[in-house]
Amino acid sequence: MSVLSGKGAVVTGGSRGIGKAIVERLAADGAQVVFCYQSSDEAAEQVAKETGAHAVRADLGRKEDLERLFAEAEARLPGVDILVNNAATAEAQKLITDITDDDYERVFAVNTRAVFLAIQWASRVMRDGGRIVNVSSLNTQVPAPTLALYCGSKGAMEQFAKVAARELGPRGITVNVVSSGATDTDMLRGANPPEALESTPAMTALQRLGRPDDIAAVVAFLAGPDGRWVTGQNVLATGGLLL
Ligand SMILES: NC(=O)c1ccc[n+]([C@@H]2O[C@H](COP(=O)([O-])OP(=O)(O)OC[C@H]3O[C@@H](n4cnc5c(N)ncnc54)[C@H](OP(=O)(O)O)[C@@H]3O)[C@@H](O)[C@H]2O)c1
Repeated sequence: MSVLSGKGAVVTGGSRGIGKAIVERLAADGAQVVFCYQSSDEAAEQVAKETGAHAVRADLGRKEDLERLFAEAEARLPGVDILVNNAATAEAQKLITDITDDDYERVFAVNTRAVFLAIQWASRVMRDGGRIVNVSSLNTQVPAPTLALYCGSKGAMEQFAKVAARELGPRGITVNVVSSGATDTDMLRGANPPEALESTPAMTALQRLGRPDDIAAVVAFLAGPDGRWVTGQNVLATGGLLL
C-alpha cells in the first residue's frame, strides 16, 4: 500500500513548475489530488491525465473561484487530509516608489489572502492528522530591491503557518513552510535574465539550480506519515544557497 493511499490532497498551482511536481509526487505516493491553476488549460489537462488528479481552473485572487475550488475538492476527495499552498505570483517586481495600489491588492490577494482563506477552509474541513504546507521563498530571509510585495506577502503566509500550527496541533494537524531557493521553473526564468542564472549554481553548496522535484520531495515528507513530529517550521530547501 502507498504511504498516502486513502488521503485527499489539494494543491494550488499544479499546472507547471513546483506545483506540478508536487501533484505528481503526491499522486505517486497514493493520494487523490485536486489542483488548481490560473489559465494554462492544456498543461493542466496533461498533468491531470498523467496523474489521475482533477484540475480546477481558478484564479486565487478571486474569492468566488477559491470557493469553487474548495467545493470541488470536498465533492471529489475521500476527505481533505493535505493542503499545499503552492501557487504565487511574482508580478509587480518594482521599486517601492513605483508600486501602485492595484499591484499591492493583486499580489496580496494571490500570495496572502488566498493562503489565509485556504487555511481557514482547511481548519474547518480537514480530517484529524492532516497536513498543511505553504510554499514560500528564501527571499523572505534574503530580501532584495523590487521584492517588497513578494517578500511582504510571503512573510505573512509564513506567519499564518506558525499560528495555524498552534491552533490545529491539538487535532494532530501539522502546518509547515517549505522555502524554495532558486528552482528551475518559468517563474525563475521569467524573473531573471539567463546571464544572472549562470552564476546561481556556484552560490549553492550543491552547485546547481533546484529542480521542482527537489521541492516536491520535501513537501511529500512533511505531507506524509514521517512528517508527524515537525510542525510550525520553515524548511529551507535551497541546495545550500547563500549559506
Ligand atoms: N522557482 C523558484 O525559484 C522559486 C523560488 C522561491 C519560491 N518559489 C515559490 O514556489 C511556488 C511555485 O513557483 P513556481 O516557480 O513553480 O511558479 P510557476 O512556474 O510560475 O508556476 C506557478 C503555478 O501557479 C499557478 N498560479 C499562478 N498564479 C495563480 C493564480 N492567481 N491562481 C491560480 N493559480 C495560479 C500557475 O497556473 P498557470 O499555469 O495557469 O499560470 C502555475 O501552475 C511559488 O509560491 C513561488 O513563490 C519559487
